[in-house]
Amino acid sequence: MMKWCFVASTLMLLASCSREANQPPEPAADIGAGKAIADTECIDCHGADGHGVAPGIPQLSAQPADYLLASLQAYQSGERTHAALRDLTNHMNDADMVNVSAYYASLSPPEQPATIHDKMTSYEEGEQIAKACVSCHGESGNSVIAGIPSLAGQQPLYFIAATQAYLTGIRDIETMEKSLRGLSRTDIEKLALYYASQVPDAHQAPENGDPEAGMVLSAQCGGCHGGGGVSHDAATPSLAGQDPLYLANAAKAYRGHVRHHDVMFADKSDEDIANIAAYYAIQQPRAAEDEPISAAKLSRSCDRCHGPGIDSPNLATPRLNGQDRDYLIMALRAYRDDKRHSTTMHKMSLPYSDTMIESLATLYSSREAR
Ligand code: HEC
Ligand code: HEC
Ligand code: HEC
Ligand code: HEC
Repeated sequence: MMKWCFVASTLMLLASCSREANQPPEPAADIGAGKAIADTECIDCHGADGHGVAPGIPQLSAQPADYLLASLQAYQSGERTHAALRDLTNHMNDADMVNVSAYYASLSPPEQPATIHDKMTSYEEGEQIAKACVSCHGESGNSVIAGIPSLAGQQPLYFIAATQAYLTGIRDIETMEKSLRGLSRTDIEKLALYYASQVPDAHQAPENGDPEAGMVLSAQCGGCHGGGGVSHDAATPSLAGQDPLYLANAAKAYRGHVRHHDVMFADKSDEDIANIAAYYAIQQPRAAEDEPISAAKLSRSCDRCHGPGIDSPNLATPRLNGQDRDYLIMALRAYRDDKRHSTTMHKMSLPYSDTMIESLATLYSSREAR
């Protein structure tokens, strides 16, 4: 949850939507002259209606003129890189750019989004994919088989790291490698989001192992794994409610240098390990995320600047509703990876996984343009 809270609070701070660069006052635009340029230079890619002729080409109609102009200036100066647009803008003067921007701004937005992409959220897709894991990891990721870890409530970054460890052979477990082979990186992110918001079941005390003795030993672990084994760090696994045999096996794998960990269990006897496992197994587990992180929820923060009716003459903020999906994905990745420079948008997109970016793009592209 922490990362998303961080995003939310960053958004609050930025909610004043301050203008990124001071544009000079616009000279009066000649829409007819702009149309002449568009019809010869831009139509092949952006179409006669400005809606874009192929996926990946942004739709320009009814975007704020200020934003279009700022984009063209950014291509001309090389601040935004795109070979075709660099060439085109290089032989345009300031008036040409003002005119063509005014022309596209004056066109109507697309009536209906071109394609409504699948409406499934990442969470629902994760739930679908997770069906393949139920036979071993249990319903909702609550394992009932000794030695098999529960996945319910697990921290999402740790979950992703663990799956990568199987896929690369760092954790050499053939059944897991087979189960994960064939899943894409985004499938795994979806699984991580799904499991993070499942409610973990509490475990019974195991027969071997003394939870009270384990509690004393666990004093060295709480700094990272959280009080009672509920981790608050997305990259550190929760241990609370975990299957005790799995916990003990994992600890022994670290002790035997089969798995690697800051804490080597070299000084721990089998009995110590059984006690620690018993202690964590009976702690009250909690889901890493209170509720599924949905694109719809996140988009409310984006709409502070991008929402309909927010466009104001001194705010060069593009409209996202009805924009081309592939283009949105490209743009958000470019901000996140700092390939397209906008301090505001870089901060905004930095914590997003490809999955969340795809979901946001799906959401915005399928919304009506106004
Ligand atoms: C060869 C195809 C092509 C041609 C011709 C073309 N564009 Fe584009 N345009 C694109 C693509 C692709 C992008 C997205 C580039 C990126 O990722 O920054 C784009 C982006 C833009 C953007 C930024 C939109 C946004 O939402 O940030 C503007 C503005 C624009 N084009 C205006 C024009 C104008 C005006 C012309 C004619 C003078 C033109 N383009 C000609 C393909 C083209
Ligand atoms: C045939 C049984 C089986 C199936 C099916 C299976 N797993 Fe596992 N999984 C295991 C076992 C056994 C382990 C413990 C391996 C170890 O000791 O590292 C494990 C471990 C894991 C872990 C590491 C948990 C941790 O706390 O470190 C993750 C993550 C995981 N599985 C995800 C999945 C996902 C996702 C699927 C479905 C796509 C899946 N597994 C399907 C048997 C299975
Ligand atoms: C410095 C921080 C830190 C401390 C202290 C720490 N851990 Fe960990 N622990 C981690 C991290 C990070 C991982 C994930 C490592 C990996 O990917 O294998 C982990 C993994 C584990 C796992 C594997 C969980 C799983 O689902 O596979 C167990 C079990 C574990 N720790 C037990 C303990 C115990 C018991 C202690 C105290 C004796 C302890 N740890 C102390 C950071 C810590
Ligand atoms: C504080 C105001 C603000 C917030 C909040 C904000 N943005 Fe932006 N966004 C901007 C500005 C300003 C630009 C134009 C930057 C540029 O020129 O590259 C922009 C540009 C974009 C673009 C590029 C559009 C295009 O046509 O090229 C996308 C995509 C985008 N934002 C998505 C988002 C998403 C998704 C969120 C929420 C997670 C969000 N923004 C939140 C101000 C904001």
